[in-house]
Amino acid sequence: MQSRTIQQGAKDFGYRSIESDGWRPDIEDLRRKMSPKTRAMIICSPNNPTGAVHSRSDIEAMMDLAGENGIFVISDEIYDRITFEEGAPSPASINKDVPTVVLNGLSKVYLAPGWRAGYVAFRDPSGAISDVKEGLFKQARARLCANTVGQYGLVAALEGPDDHIHHLVRKLRPRRDLATRRINEMEGLSVTRPSGSFYMFPKIHPSLGMDDKKFVLNVLEKCHVLFVHGSGFHEEHGKGHFRLVFLPPEDLLEEALSRLESYLQGAVS
Ligand SMILES: Cc1ncc(COP(=O)(O)O)c(C=O)c1O
Repeated sequence: MQSRTIQQGAKDFGYRSIESDGWRPDIEDLRRKMSPKTRAMIICSPNNPTGAVHSRSDIEAMMDLAGENGIFVISDEIYDRITFEEGAPSPASINKDVPTVVLNGLSKVYLAPGWRAGYVAFRDPSGAISDVKEGLFKQARARLCANTVGQYGLVAALEGPDDHIHHLVRKLRPRRDLATRRINEMEGLSVTRPSGSFYMFPKIHPSLGMDDKKFVLNVLEKCHVLFVHGSGFHEEHGKGHFRLVFLPPEDLLEEALSRLESYLQGAVS
């Protein structure tokens, strides 16, 4: 990879994911978005907000594309062990040549969001992104450092037993299935079943005649159930959707979904 200076004022371009195909990344769209000004590609699998777990072959294709374009990859793997079918392949273990910055932490898999402890790992065999690494170290020395207690917690979490992850996934799976089934039974909504994380990204059908922000605000106001509007994640690729978190136990999920259903019955009729 040739060295390219990273400058301030970066612009992000979202790439499309294909809803009808489990929200897998649209590699052709990604290819079209590449330009000589492109510096980095973000891969987030398992994904927030869609719950997609990218396949090995999709990740291979994305990494190859990064390699062909001489850019580095930022791989956000915060939900790496929350998967319901197959495990989530890690980009840096698939392609060892493309420089990769791996992000992870305690928040999700170790259920400790309040600890504010995470880590960054660099795979950069030829030193192509040493400037990025140095920039990050500079930030860490100045203000980005994790708190001391959190750092000790991180070591204990990574070195200690991890059987709680199995229990977590076992509890989440029926919640995912329940929310998927209930949403797909509702008139005006549909959802692709997620394979990882604890999110799903239902579609609001145009027949409801409401944009995603209005829908989410209405549901909050009328049902006291909070979702996140899809266009908040990406104006183009997220619009017409909302994010649902299926962390709560089944009885609470049932209650929230029943309120949503009642609201829709009123809105549809
Ligand atoms: C994709 C993704 N990456 C990283 C994080 C980081 O979480 P935290 O700031 O709690 O470490 C989150 C949390 O919502 C996330 O969804």
